[in-house]
Amino acid sequence: MEITGDLDALHARIGGWRRGGARIGFVPTMGNLHAGHHALVRCARGDADRVVASIFVNPTQFGPDEDFARYPRTPDADAAGLAAAGCGLLWAPSVDTMYPLGVAAATLVRVPGITDILDGAHRPGHFDGVCTVVARLLLQVQPDVAAFGRKDYQQLAVIRAMVRDLAFPVALLAVDTVREDDGLAMSSRNQYLDANARARAPALHRALQAMRDAVRSGEDPAAAGDAARDTLQAAGFAVDYAEVRTSDLRMPDDRDAALVALVAARLGTTRLIDNLAFDRGG
Ligand code: PAF
Repeated sequence: MEITGDLDALHARIGGWRRGGARIGFVPTMGNLHAGHHALVRCARGDADRVVASIFVNPTQFGPDEDFARYPRTPDADAAGLAAAGCGLLWAPSVDTMYPLGVAAATLVRVPGITDILDGAHRPGHFDGVCTVVARLLLQVQPDVAAFGRKDYQQLAVIRAMVRDLAFPVALLAVDTVREDDGLAMSSRNQYLDANARARAPALHRALQAMRDAVRSGEDPAAAGDAARDTLQAAGFAVDYAEVRTSDLRMPDDRDAALVALVAARLGTTRLIDNLAFDRGG
């Protein structure tokens, strides 16, 4: 696997592949890769001849009090895992390459509406940073297909909206969440959890299952969310939201069948998110 942080080298390598008729897959990441990221690469590899992955810890999607500085950076292990999963080229730009005018002067991409709810309400500006960097990455790599994890449910919905609205010529692949044996969704932030918090963290997935089961047995979605919030708070979580929404993140009414339970909660200083899509009818 080749690694570059030089935009001309990136274009030269991908251009060569494309002239040879290759279909290009892309997996954007912030590094500190785990089995969930490797699944994204394998999925992209299944739909493309060559896979490019990026590692860029994007400063514009972190709030001032968030974990940008301490976000785990593990470049050697990441490169080995990407190569083993079938990635052919790792794009690892510097902040200056990604934001040539500087972060403060960067052209921003904002998707209104869907970015103002749930995580967007609790992390103001987060999705503007995500859209801004994903738009840049898509322009740099120009892939035929790009893979994103379903774990970041709202992020995927926001990126779908951006890709559609700006007519990016890319197909999006949505890849299932990879979980630990006890149900905890894999996340780079899990490693912030101490032993006590790690033992409690699977309650998040159980809360999602409880929301799903309650709604399937006829409970009002809002009441199911409230009950999950109470359960999690009693278990020591500080809950940002625990809600059941439609699959396109609207408030559900009785006729909506395709639903998703979503939760974001903190254990100590570690903020975890997870979701569970389900059909009301079971
Ligand atoms: O999901 C992530 O890891 C990031 O939000 C992404 C899509 C790589 C943009 O920085």
